[in-house]
Amino acid sequence: MSRFLEGEKIYLRALTLSDANDEYLSWLNDEETTRGLASGIFPSSLDALKKFVEGISNKKDVVMFAICDKANDQHIGNIKLDNFDWVSRTCELGVLIGNKSYWGKGIGFEVCQLTIRYAFQDLNIRKVVLAVYENNPAAVKLYEKLGFQHEGRLRKQVFEGGQYFDKLYMGIFAEELK
Ligand SMILES: CC(C)(COP(=O)(O)OP(=O)(O)OC[C@H]1O[C@@H](n2cnc3c(N)ncnc32)[C@H](O)[C@@H]1OP(=O)(O)O)[C@@H](O)C(=O)NCCC(=O)NCCS
Repeated sequence: MSRFLEGEKIYLRALTLSDANDEYLSWLNDEETTRGLASGIFPSSLDALKKFVEGISNKKDVVMFAICDKANDQHIGNIKLDNFDWVSRTCELGVLIGNKSYWGKGIGFEVCQLTIRYAFQDLNIRKVVLAVYENNPAAVKLYEKLGFQHEGRLRKQVFEGGQYFDKLYMGIFAEELK
């Protein structure tokens, strides 16, 4: 499968139906991985995952990449741009590194930087936005490090593990990207 964007440790390529396997499924059913994500509340099945991946590859309004390790071609997560507004030239970023052994090694920073740069330079996007839950400090830290600014907060908006958490809105313009 050809590489679409290449970083130092990883490359991004199109997500394909053959990626919808038990390893990918295990990410979606892992409590730690999905903490602070909208997914993970209900159990996921392999059939549902295959339908999701098939659906997404037919959509023209979602750019979904498989994140792969350059050293061994292993598929370790996904990153996407969606909710495009072609008049205001904005879109939303979402990232999931499913293989936990890759956390804390700068991969999140590298893939977000590559994808946001692609949004600005190739898709002519003006601003990238995202939502993150306050009980996901790794993600908040990552986005702040990339240059995202805090833009809004819905107080006690999401229920997880018996508690309510704030939902934070963040945004970044090209000149703010680190
Ligand atoms: C959130 C996620 C993308 C972070 O990716 P990562 O590759 O582990 O992050 P990086 O190694 O690039 O770290 C970026 C910064 O965040 C900080 N960070 C990483 N993990 C952290 C943690 N558990 N707590 C606090 N800060 C953390 C790092 O210290 C780093 O800053 P530094 O270089 O100044 O130290 C990854 O953990 C993940 O996919 N989690 C599951 C899905 C998810 O939560 N997605 C985001 C939804 S909004």
